[in-house]
Amino acid sequence: MKTPPRLQVLLDEGLIDGVQRQLMSGKEAQVYVVRCGSDTRAAKVYKEATNRSFRQAVDYTENRKVKNSRSARAMAKGTRFGREQQEAAWQSAEVDALFKLAAAGVRVPRPYLFFEGVLLMELVTDAEGAAAPRLNDVILTPEQARQHHATLLQEVVRMLLAGIVHGDLSEFNILLGVHEGRPSPVIIDLPQAVDAAGNNHARRMLLRDVDNLRDFFGRNAPELLATQYGPEIWALYAGGLLRADTALTGRFVDKAGPADLGGVLREIDDARAEEAARRLRMGGG
Ligand SMILES: Nc1ncnc2c1ncn2[C@@H]1O[C@H](COP(=O)(O)OP(=O)(O)O)[C@@H](O)[C@H]1O
Ligand SMILES: [Mg+2]
Repeated sequence: MKTPPRLQVLLDEGLIDGVQRQLMSGKEAQVYVVRCGSDTRAAKVYKEATNRSFRQAVDYTENRKVKNSRSARAMAKGTRFGREQQEAAWQSAEVDALFKLAAAGVRVPRPYLFFEGVLLMELVTDAEGAAAPRLNDVILTPEQARQHHATLLQEVVRMLLAGIVHGDLSEFNILLGVHEGRPSPVIIDLPQAVDAAGNNHARRMLLRDVDNLRDFFGRNAPELLATQYGPEIWALYAGGLLRADTALTGRFVDKAGPADLGGVLREIDDARAEEAARRLRMGGG
């Protein structure tokens, strides 16, 4: 196809060798399939900040620390410079999150580079090598729904342990790629990701992410609709008891109820015992 203007500079710099086609245009970006040598990759071109929804701008901006105080003042005043700084921070949040998560072994597209507002990353593909479908576009059996739900909860836990809450996790931002020969979910679209420990909205965003998974997979596996993995995961995380291999139950008892206190304490004891057993297995102290 004719090279879109925003990708021309990457072509000129030799970072890509050609543009094959445009994938679905999302809320905040256009994504293209590009050629890099013998590889095909995905190039995400961010739209202007003014085209983005207000909710995301609010979630994102609040509590985000900007190190440079000139940038911070400019952002607060909403000057042109401020908007540019905000835009740059938004885009690099996705790049930062992708690098961090890929390093932590979370199933995300592998990032290559970020240049002139374009993120170059691994193209997630299906078994035939074509761009992978979104979960929203595939038909799942109840068994597949249960399986992907369980896999994605594990990924959410791993993200949290890496210090990140996705914040816009849904069937539209999960692709069905292939891993070890089997269909396997890959998480995308992270510009609104927040620091799990330092953002006041982190808990609310985590609960919303996990609820979205429950509601989506619950359509095919209705027994999931009664589960409460979100509050369970957050309580374990906040209590310092969450591990990558923590066995989750999907049940959660609110500490506020006096009748439930015993249950919570037992769960904490169980988690401690599990952790002690894990350390023993690993031979660590
Ligand atoms: N790494 C990738 N591999 C394959 N397809 C991708 C990749 N990244 C994005 N896409 C496609 O582009 C669409 C939009 O990308 P996304 O990151 O979700 O941006 P938006 O914020 O615009 O929703 C996705 O729904 C998906 O179909
Ligand atoms: Mg998206």
